[in-house]
Amino acid sequence: MSSVPQQTSLHQLNASLGAAMNVSEGTVTSHLRATSRTYFYFTTATLVLCLIFTLATIMVLVVQKKEPIPQPPEKFPLIGGNCSLDILSILKKPLGTESSAYLQVSKPIRNSKLTWNKDGILNGIGYHNGNLIIQSPGWYIIYCQLQFVVPNCPDNPIDLKLELLINNKTKKQTLVTVCESKTGTKNIYRNLSQFFLENLNVNNTVSIKVKEFQYVDTNTFPLESVLAAFKYSNSN
Ligand SMILES: *[C@@H]1O[C@H](CO)[C@@H](O)[C@H](O)[C@H]1NC(C)=O
Ligand SMILES: *[C@@H]1O[C@H](CO)[C@@H](O)[C@H](O)[C@H]1NC(C)=O
Ligand SMILES: *[C@@H]1O[C@H](CO)[C@@H](O)[C@H](O)[C@H]1NC(C)=O
Ligand SMILES: *[C@@H]1O[C@H](CO)[C@@H](O)[C@H](O)[C@H]1NC(C)=O
Repeated sequence: MSSVPQQTSLHQLNASLGAAMNVSEGTVTSHLRATSRTYFYFTTATLVLCLIFTLATIMVLVVQKKEPIPQPPEKFPLIGGNCSLDILSILKKPLGTESSAYLQVSKPIRNSKLTWNKDGILNGIGYHNGNLIIQSPGWYIIYCQLQFVVPNCPDNPIDLKLELLINNKTKKQTLVTVCESKTGTKNIYRNLSQFFLENLNVNNTVSIKVKEFQYVDTNTFPLESVLAAFKYSNSN
């Protein structure tokens, strides 16, 4: 009476074992791949966290070194939303022999090659006619951000472009096209930025060119259109 159900369940057991083996054979490689991908993500996340933690520690050490008398931190520079102002406040601290520049765009803008307000930070880097002039050889981090606004779109799309030049030669560029649609043709805000690490020599120049320079916005965020350079390390 009970033999038929038993046989059935044995069959089911066999079938499910077979299926399980098939499945495990078929999925073992993809499972391995998924596992190694998980490890990869995990390792990357861990490394990033370590990096952030190390940077934070270095920042704390630097701040403590600069201020030997322990004081309640009035404003920790890396907290808050004003990234470029945070960088500015860090750069205002004496940097020893290191070279750095942080200049805001000067207005009015009449040329595709931008000029910069000399009254920013120029520490071991020269400036002339829109060019940063390197005075100490080494690896430099160069950063530029520009804010654009198109108050009224013309009939055709516009390409806004930011070029970073070393010795008058374009090394990096970035572009955004605006005014493509027929809707939303007023007050189009965009920002372009460029980040570059380069080994530079004495008298090398760094400059910025824009296409459609009339749309560079110097009013909405007057402090946000900046050119900055920091010496990262010596050449060797
Ligand atoms: C960011 O900077 C601007 C200009 O100095 C200032 O008006 C604004 O309050 C700052 N925002 C924050 C969150 O600190
Ligand atoms: C860059 O161009 C300017 C004029 O356009 C020139 O005076 C200067 O010598 C050039 N610099 C280099 C490094 O070629
Ligand atoms: C710059 O533009 C990007 C995308 O267009 C936007 O996500 C970002 O918030 C903008 N940043 C600023 C500072 O305006
Ligand atoms: C850099 O330029 C200055 C002024 O033109 C010149 O006197 C100096 O010799 C140059 N230095 C080098 C290393 O080329």
